[in-house]
Amino acid sequence: MRQPPGDVLVIIPTYNERENLGQIVERLHTSVPDAHVLVVDDGSPDGTGKIADEIADGDDRVHVLHRTEKAGLGAAYIAGFAWGLAAGYGVLVEMDADGSHAPEQLPRLLSALEHADLVLGSRWMPGGTVVNWPRRREILSRGANVYTRLALGTPLRDATGGYRAYRREVLEAIDYASVTSQGYCFQIDLAWRAERAGFRVVEVPITFVERERGESKMSGPIVREAFVRVWQWGSAHRRQQLRQAWERRSLR
Ligand code: GDD
Ligand code: MN
Repeated sequence: MRQPPGDVLVIIPTYNERENLGQIVERLHTSVPDAHVLVVDDGSPDGTGKIADEIADGDDRVHVLHRTEKAGLGAAYIAGFAWGLAAGYGVLVEMDADGSHAPEQLPRLLSALEHADLVLGSRWMPGGTVVNWPRRREILSRGANVYTRLALGTPLRDATGGYRAYRREVLEAIDYASVTSQGYCFQIDLAWRAERAGFRVVEVPITFVERERGESKMSGPIVREAFVRVWQWGSAHRRQQLRQAWERRSLR
């Protein structure tokens, strides 16, 4: 049995989520009352940042980080991780604001973390599923994960997912601040770094529910970025494996 993981900080990046934020924080605190929340808002034009401040004013468990411009999901998480590590939290959770990541399933992620370093909420393993997604989005996500497994040689079923819990030691070890990837690619990047650094990465099934309010910020360029970068990482990794195999042979 490992050390208990410590205090939990749930990081919620927001961009135009005014209709969703209040509910997600409330559901989270019903499910895990001790969890603290950090909302990382990129100056949402719809006033999400102000709503976050109002929630934080009435609740010591809620904190807000205001950033001035929309810099993407990855940059928002990097700022959130830095804040959470400096504040001493033992567990850092990624959760979307739009209700896709059910706070009711967080206890399951956290209990898996007792025997792991990084827990990924997985849609594409037995018991996991997606509700209300258009067919093309499902094909994209399943395809991206098959591609990632083949290109990187990782066993992960859902490396692109964004509902996960890290022990702080993982983030301290993987130089997360140097990650420049966005969107899906950000998620793959971190999972792959953790795996290669020798951490125990475990997947637990989740039910991902498509948002009912507001809009997704995923875009064509974000998908293309993931496609290209994953290929680059995979080929660099394979070249390295080949080089090592050659070196072993020439030593014999
Ligand atoms: N601060 C900030 N800045 N927040 C952002 C930004 C940004 O530039 N872009 C998106 N967000 C926030 C949204 O407000 C939401 O809370 C969360 O990040 C996820 O954004 P969505 O636009 O809802 O993403 P999605 O549903 O398409 O993607 C989700 O699933 C993907 C896998 O299918 C996310 O969980 C991704 O991380 C995941 O790869
Ligand atoms: Mn979403």
